[in-house]
Amino acid sequence: MPLPATFHRPDGGDVLLRRAQPEDAEAHVELWNAIGAERIYLMTERLARTVEEVRTQFRDADPLRTLWLVAEQDGQLVGGAGLQRGVWKKNEHTATLGIALRKEFRGRGIGEALLRSGLEWARSVGIRKVKLGVFATNDRAIALYRKLGFVEEARLRGEVILEGHPVDEVLMALWL
Ligand SMILES: CC(C)(COP(=O)(O)OP(=O)(O)OC[C@H]1O[C@@H](n2cnc3c(N)ncnc32)[C@H](O)[C@@H]1OP(=O)(O)O)[C@@H](O)C(=O)NCCC(=O)NCCS
Repeated sequence: MPLPATFHRPDGGDVLLRRAQPEDAEAHVELWNAIGAERIYLMTERLARTVEEVRTQFRDADPLRTLWLVAEQDGQLVGGAGLQRGVWKKNEHTATLGIALRKEFRGRGIGEALLRSGLEWARSVGIRKVKLGVFATNDRAIALYRKLGFVEEARLRGEVILEGHPVDEVLMALWL
């Protein structure tokens, strides 16, 4: 599915999957901060970068090393994904993935469509291994990663405290 692409939601509505543009910076920060504020899915509760920094990041991203993807419905950013290639010669065959959708847009196949687009980009630039960390309580995310072939490579015991309880961080990877 070359970018931009349209994903037809099975429950109705079209979602546009495209590369993030500098003009998306404000909505991107708002989106990731809203999901961070749910406190149970992402490591960060607020993005460390300012809107201006994100704008620059989107503008200057090297298309062979970084992919910033957004999912847009009716002009609203409903989700996004990022893939960042390893920065060293020794690990530039790998990339780290992050993905998140607004609460109301989950469970409708958009995450799978975003992830498939991201993996297609990774293949096209010669990345061999995509990896990520996911909290062990995040059943939906783990189901999605498994569905696309990711396997658990390691588990960091009690790596995070979520709602007062220690939770493992599961490190998963997919060889392309
Ligand atoms: C994780 C996330 C990106 C997945 O995207 P999504 O669009 O919600 O997922 P999909 O609709 O594509 O579903 C993918 C698979 O997950 C499974 N799934 C869906 N809802 C589920 C649920 N409530 N519980 C367990 N598994 C579920 C299904 O197997 C589904 O595949 P299927 O439709 O073929 O049955 C999204 O839910 C999200 O943004 N969550 C909050 C942020 C987050 O957790 N980010 C990842 C951090 S590692």
